[in-house]
Amino acid sequence: MREKTLKLMIPGPIQPDQAVLQAMSRPVPPHYGTEFTNYYNDTLELLRKVFNTQGTIFLMVGTGSVALDSCIGSAFSNGEKVLVGTNGFFGERLKAIAVSNGLDVVSVSAEWGEPLCAADFDRAFSKNPDATGALVVHLETSTAIANPVQEIGPIVRQHGGVFVVDAVSSLGGLPFQMDDWCIDLCASASQKCLGAPPGLAPLAVGERGWEYIDRNPQKNHGWYTDLRIWRQYATEWADWHPFPVTMATNNVMALHTSLEQLLEEGIPQRLEHYRQLALRLRSGLRRIGMLPFTPDNLMVPVLTAAYGPPGVPTSKIVDYMAEQRGIKISGGLGSLKDKIFRVGHMSPVLQIEDIDQVIEALEAFRSHAGN
Ligand SMILES: Cc1ncc(COP(=O)(O)O)c(C=O)c1O
Repeated sequence: MREKTLKLMIPGPIQPDQAVLQAMSRPVPPHYGTEFTNYYNDTLELLRKVFNTQGTIFLMVGTGSVALDSCIGSAFSNGEKVLVGTNGFFGERLKAIAVSNGLDVVSVSAEWGEPLCAADFDRAFSKNPDATGALVVHLETSTAIANPVQEIGPIVRQHGGVFVVDAVSSLGGLPFQMDDWCIDLCASASQKCLGAPPGLAPLAVGERGWEYIDRNPQKNHGWYTDLRIWRQYATEWADWHPFPVTMATNNVMALHTSLEQLLEEGIPQRLEHYRQLALRLRSGLRRIGMLPFTPDNLMVPVLTAAYGPPGVPTSKIVDYMAEQRGIKISGGLGSLKDKIFRVGHMSPVLQIEDIDQVIEALEAFRSHAGN
């Protein structure tokens, strides 16, 4: 591990607040017993306010992908047909998770850099009446595009399907209303807008999510990610150990701390702070001639993608920023590799001055590269 500490301005993991980091270094408590169980349950209640759901919440030990695998594997059976929204790297990843769970995937696509269109889901369900659900990424982290899950959800429900949303990079950083938006299962991760280190994957299951999960009692798709197992422990061991595995106790304490901070500040206030950072970054990027990748009307508060100077592979900018400036930003993924760079501003510790520092460093890169 290198000694040099980089300022993280990537789209997760983020730089957590000091109090959150302190929670990670407290003595390790046992993961069972009344005290930890109460604390864990309290953490789930904080998450409930962020998901905005009356559903069941679990905290899986792992990253966002384990929660996605769990939602998809639990809700659908081998051979079932599902619609998957694909307009970026993580839409493709969602498709890969569906395929690896034996599902028959129909892509509902948009160009990378464009949002998915809700009416396309309506048409795709009409063309594929045997499709039993839809899977969509909320914030497509590879392009900084937010998909209109609030419009897609009611369409999926109208067609009687189950709606699974990847909110890995959006929960806590974009407005989110799981129940009002007809989302039946939803997966997220601790290391992005929830403000904690990597290691926990919150997920939520609504009433209809459970109906789908319980359709086929014979179904098997492994043990760890089977939500029926998580429900069983949450019920049978409710008073002392409401999860089937050893809970990552210090990660729970860190997440509890960051969620308390988020809710004390207020989600709308936090989102407004991020919006101000996004606006400052966009105007700075324009000033130095590195244009934002998405138009202003599609701006998201927590992440900005932009083009570098013409003819310069963006990995050179990413390397310069880390090596010369100590600021870690991200490059483009997949087909956008070397075409764009991405700056994450989804940490509560980031301020306008940090954005100004990024702009100043990018401008220096520009002069240094002779552009
Ligand atoms: C939208 C989205 N989905 C899924 C993932 C995968 O999450 P994890 O790396 O936590 O498994 C990421 C990670 O960046 C993401 O941004």
